[in-house]
Amino acid sequence: MFVCLCKAVTDHDIHSAVEGGVSSFEELQDHTDVSTSCGQCACEARSVFDEKIALEASKHASYNAPSIVLQSS
Ligand code: FES
Repeated sequence: MFVCLCKAVTDHDIHSAVEGGVSSFEELQDHTDVSTSCGQCACEARSVFDEKIALEASKHASYNAPSIVLQSS
């Protein structure tokens, strides 16, 4: 779906940017131009961005989960 009509930025564009390493909203704006014109999309764009950042963080957190400790008898 389109998040930013002025710059034709979709939620997929925002997700791809985060997957490509974008880690701040300002960086996202530099990368996609989202919310750089009228600004009406700022709230939705930040919401989509924050949700994707949280999702990516949770994926990485699972990599650092404690390993199972086996006890010898
Ligand atoms: S709708 Fe995004 S800047 Fe206008």
